[in-house]
Amino acid sequence: AFMNELRGFKDLEQQVKQRLQLDHVVIVPGDSDELSWVKQEMGKACVRYMKGILRRDDTVAVTGGGTIAAVAEMMTPLEQAGNCLFVPARGGLGEQMENQANTICAEMAKKANGTYRLLYVPDPLSEESYQTIIEEPSIKEVLKIIRGAGVVVHGIGDATTMAERRKTPQEVIDTIQEGKAVGEAFGYYFNEEGSIVHKVRTVGIQLEDLQHTNCVIAVAGGKSKAKAISSYFNLGQSNVLITDESAAKELIKGS
Ligand code: BG6
Repeated sequence: AFMNELRGFKDLEQQVKQRLQLDHVVIVPGDSDELSWVKQEMGKACVRYMKGILRRDDTVAVTGGGTIAAVAEMMTPLEQAGNCLFVPARGGLGEQMENQANTICAEMAKKANGTYRLLYVPDPLSEESYQTIIEEPSIKEVLKIIRGAGVVVHGIGDATTMAERRKTPQEVIDTIQEGKAVGEAFGYYFNEEGSIVHKVRTVGIQLEDLQHTNCVIAVAGGKSKAKAISSYFNLGQSNVLITDESAAKELIKGS
């Protein structure tokens, strides 16, 4: 039965890979909505994948969220990838401390025996402050490193869950709901077709930057995130998906 299960996942991985047009898919057993250790298993799978691709002196940008926090939790020293530099992908996006990219980035770097640079900007930002802040020399320097990262590791969230978790103003919540947003990544909210319904104004990686990134790894699972995952991939910006069995089965429904 165990061998069947392994073989079963190979098929499932292949189907998800085709459906979402990805270079690589890893599926861990279970449903992370229901069991927290499934999230840790995705974390482990992501660390394993990162170890296979990271090279000396690479720069890795990471987003916030509980899933990427699990990747940081599972990180171990990167032997073949000494001197890797970890940076947050974007600003705090109104998240709680433990869910912020800065916090996760510092923890991941420490466990990997790498180095890190952090981003100290309030967000979301008004257009005026945004323009001033990105011209600040110390910020400018870190932003340049971030936008040039060769590897990006990010979470994907359900749109409503994310809007509620962040301190989102009511008028923005209205825009998100009226636009029928289902998914969120990097502070962008997407509808089922993958069109951008709303974008949080903050510094760091913008969706366009991902076209120049060697490897973009999405880590997201749980049946509740299936719609969010497929909406995000309609824009097709990531090469790799690390997910769980429940989300994967939901993703291939109707194919
Ligand atoms: C946030 C990221 O911090 O985490 C979002 O900025 C992402 O882009 C979210 O959608 C995912 O959170 P979680 O806790 O579901 O992994």
